[in-house]
Amino acid sequence: MERILITGAGGQLGSELTLKLSEIYGDESIIATDINEQVSSRFTNCKFAVLDVMDRPKMEALISENKVTQVYHLAAILSATGEKKPLFTWDINMQSLLNVLELAREYNLKVYWPSSIAVFGNNTPRVNTPQYCAMDPTTVYGISKLAGERWCEYYNKTYGVDVRSLRYPGLIGYKSAAGGGTTDYAVDIYRAAIAGEKFSCFLSEDTYLPMMYMPDAIKATVELMEAPEDLVKVRSSYNIGALSFSPKEIYESIKRHFPDFEIVYEPDFRQKIASSWPDSIDDSVAVSDWNWKPDFDLDTMTDDIIMNLS
Ligand code: SER
Repeated sequence: MERILITGAGGQLGSELTLKLSEIYGDESIIATDINEQVSSRFTNCKFAVLDVMDRPKMEALISENKVTQVYHLAAILSATGEKKPLFTWDINMQSLLNVLELAREYNLKVYWPSSIAVFGNNTPRVNTPQYCAMDPTTVYGISKLAGERWCEYYNKTYGVDVRSLRYPGLIGYKSAAGGGTTDYAVDIYRAAIAGEKFSCFLSEDTYLPMMYMPDAIKATVELMEAPEDLVKVRSSYNIGALSFSPKEIYESIKRHFPDFEIVYEPDFRQKIASSWPDSIDDSVAVSDWNWKPDFDLDTMTDDIIMNLS
């Protein structure tokens, strides 16, 4: 029987992925953890524990007491927040991953760890960014994700740890708030539209970024984790694509439902981060290795979010 520990379960991705894993494996198989005790009320169906991912002894105790077989290590500080506290971000993002990888080696755990389009930089081909290319991340978050990818591959090749990873684009969900990312505008814009508020966008109207609707991100994660071990050939992290749009295009998509919706563009420090990231992603390696295919385009995502939030 699988026993799955999730870190950062209260986060944007964690809230939805934890529910999905509960559905698949059963509530009794899930140990949701987060540093924030207040999110525990969302996890009444399964076990919940407060966990600071820097606390390796506590992580180890939870793993051994619950006979954990898989860890989804989602806790991290994202790109925009990370720039405010660079060294702290490096410590949290790197040390916590190393804690997980060391415990995975010791307890023979299967690991999921998210990487990001933030691993790419100004010398990366911008359109249809390939799996293998120049990577010169400009943010501490991106540097920590790129270093993390190298560590994941290292633990796989050196110690046989079954660690799997996706380079997520910006994730767009309506069930939980995003926190501290450069792609968060595409989450916040829907709430503004539905509340009848004018939206101030922190990126310029023509800034294209790779994005993905949360149900596709959950699907990709589960499919990658369930793929037979020998099909998962990339042990750093897979490019994974779905959507590519600009603030102007998502605004136009929302305007189909709210013709009076207004937007102003007020780029801030996040513009520079966004401008260093790809416009769109070539995910042909994920397609050929484990058959990746997204379900949603921009308008079907918009329709689904507005129907659910209204
Ligand atoms: N959505 C993340 C961010 O903007 C990228 O992985 O930081």
